[in-house]
Parts: sequence; structure tokens; C-alpha cells
Amino acid sequence: MAIQPKTRFLGTGHFLPDQIRTNLDIERLGVETTDQWIRERTGIRERRIAPDGMLTSDMAVAAAKRALEAADTKVSELDMIVVGTITPDMPMPATAAIVQRKLGAVDIPCFDLSAACAGFIFGLSIADAFIRSGLKKRVLVVGVELLSRVVNWSDRTTCVLFGDGAGAAVLGPSDDDRGILSTNTHTDGSLAESLMIQAGGSFMAVTPEVHLAKKDKISMRGQDIFRAAVKNLYSASQAAVDAAQMKNDQVDWVVPHQANLRIIDQVTDRAKYPKEKVLSNIEMVGNTSSASIPILLDQSLRSGKIKPRDVVLMCALGAGVSWGAALVRM
Ligand code: ACO
Repeated sequence: MAIQPKTRFLGTGHFLPDQIRTNLDIERLGVETTDQWIRERTGIRERRIAPDGMLTSDMAVAAAKRALEAADTKVSELDMIVVGTITPDMPMPATAAIVQRKLGAVDIPCFDLSAACAGFIFGLSIADAFIRSGLKKRVLVVGVELLSRVVNWSDRTTCVLFGDGAGAAVLGPSDDDRGILSTNTHTDGSLAESLMIQAGGSFMAVTPEVHLAKKDKISMRGQDIFRAAVKNLYSASQAAVDAAQMKNDQVDWVVPHQANLRIIDQVTDRAKYPKEKVLSNIEMVGNTSSASIPILLDQSLRSGKIKPRDVVLMCALGAGVSWGAALVRM
């Protein structure tokens, strides 16, 4: 039987805006919260905020250029661009099309996918299917969010959580045993109302009243999402390891979505991953949704923490609710 080729990470990159907003800055904005509450309940100390005029596509392009350079891949070699985002430049066209134009790529399919914090995992699974089937050779997957513009800065239960940023990966066929070992993706639409931006689509137009009531901003039933995250991230992570016929102690690094340190601890404690194998940057960047995993992955690769051939487990859950996991030999 022919050996199924794998999909390899050829290079990664990330971009974070320079402006830092600390927990104390949020207190100073008049939000009824404290640095202590935010740190103890979430693990977040600060997050990055994109300046006025910077677009989601600008951050995506900055991360993509770094990933292309790391992958030693020319823009002309790309044959598909997938952008995971819930904060596109505009509803239409796809941010991926704008990224294509800004990168200078031509005549390749480019599309957005909306799986919130699970966007990068969903993007990986799509790229993996196209590459393993032989239909595509070089796929750029980007996770990018400009959440500071859709956060209700007077809602303490959400505004303290989110930050802006982008992460990207260039994927291609592997010629050895390195690459994506398994992926899984899931959605439970019965929890759709637990995390949403209600207005701005066919459900609710953005009228002055709707805008005043902040229904065009993020609202969340935090505890519903918390419970769903702990349960589903554990099961998806175990499924990813099982599908590769491996054991948890063969995983070198866990790169979980950075939503809340308590979620990460509960999931990885249950799966018995030692603390030192669980990577995190939530303290410095907060929850950057679909950008969260590729930012942390790129930082960990560039710092030399994750080395070639290390086995990395990624898992994420977000609005939808959608979630998934991927196991990769880097
Ligand atoms: N500062 C001070 N107090 C606060 C704050 C704050 N920033 N936020 C909430 N509180 C208060 C609440 O009002 C509540 O007060 P009350 O008891 O007087 O009513 C109290 O703290 C406890 O509230 P809980 O909601 O029970 O707090 P919890 O410990 O659950 O933490 C949090 C809230 C951080 C939102 C948590 O539920 C969480 O992380 N949920 C998951 C978020 C997530 O994973 N999102 C991922 C997807 S994001 C995406 O897809 C874009």
C-alpha cells in the first residue's frame, strides 16, 4: 500500500501590534475590575491593541510575510490562502482576497473561515486535506483577529480577555515522517448563543439604537464557554493522540488556545501533561482567538523551545461552539 504523504509546517510567522494595554490601563478606562481579579481568574496581565488605521488584513500580511520567509517560499509558489477570522476587514469580500492582493499573489483560491478561536485548527485541517490529496502544494493558513474593535469596553466580563494579533503558517507536502499526524474538528450549534456578535448580519441590522445597546459587540455567557472548553478540549486532544496511535507521554509540547489559564490547567491536568510541557503566552497577549495558536507556536519555534521533530499537540475552542485539535511532528 502506498504511504500516505503528510503535510508539513514549512515555516511560521506572527505579528503583534506595538501598543500594550495592561490590566491597570483597563482599570483607568473606568471598567469596574482590578488587575488582581483579571490575573487570578484568567492569567492575563496585558494585551496588544492595533492602532487606528491598521486593518485585520495588514496584520495578516505581516504575519504571512514572516511565515513565507521562514518557509523559504515565494508568494508566487502559493496555491491557496485560508484566513481564519471573526473580525474581517469587511463582510465582503473575504479578507483572504485582500491578503492575496497585498501579498501580490495572483489567481489562487483565497477564502475566510469563521470558527472563532478554533479558526487556525480548522484551517490546518482544510490545508492538510488539500495537500495530502495532492490538489495543492503550498497553502498559507492565517489566524488573525482585531478584537479590540468588536469588544464592548464597558463589559468587564469580556473586555479584559481579548487582544489583537496574527499568526501564519506555510504548509506543504512532507518527504519524511514529519508533519501533521492527525486533526479533528467539531461544532455544537446548540451553544451558538453563548458567544456572539448579534448585530451586523441578516439577523439584526446595525441601527443607531442597536449600536447604542452594543449589540454589534461581543457578548458571552462565560461559564457556558468555560465548561464546554474544559470538556471538549480534553476529548479532542485525546482523540488527536489516539488517532496517531500514540500516548500522551509521547507529546513533547502542548500549544493550547490561550483563552484562560484555568481552562488550560484543567484540560492538561486531566490529561496528565507535566506543567513544563504546556506552553503559554496568555499573560502577555490575552485571547487573540484564531491567532492564538499560531502566535504561540511561532514564538516557541523562534525561541528554540520547540525543535524540529518535536511532537506538538494543539487544541482550541471558540464561538459556535467550534473546537478541534491537531497533533504535529514539527
Ligand atoms: N473584574 C471583576 N469582576 C468580574 C470581572 C472582571 N473583569 N468579570 C466578571 N466579574 C465578576 C462577575 O460579574 C461575577 O460577579 P457576581 O458574582 O457579583 O455576579 C463574578 O466576577 C464571577 O463571575 P463568573 O462569570 O463566575 O467568573 P468566572 O470565574 O467564570 O470568569 C471568565 C469569567 C473569565 C469570562 C470565564 O468564564 C472564562 O474564561 N470563560 C471562557 C472564555 C473563553 O474560553 N472564551 C473562548 C472563546 S473566545 C472566542 O471564540 C472569540
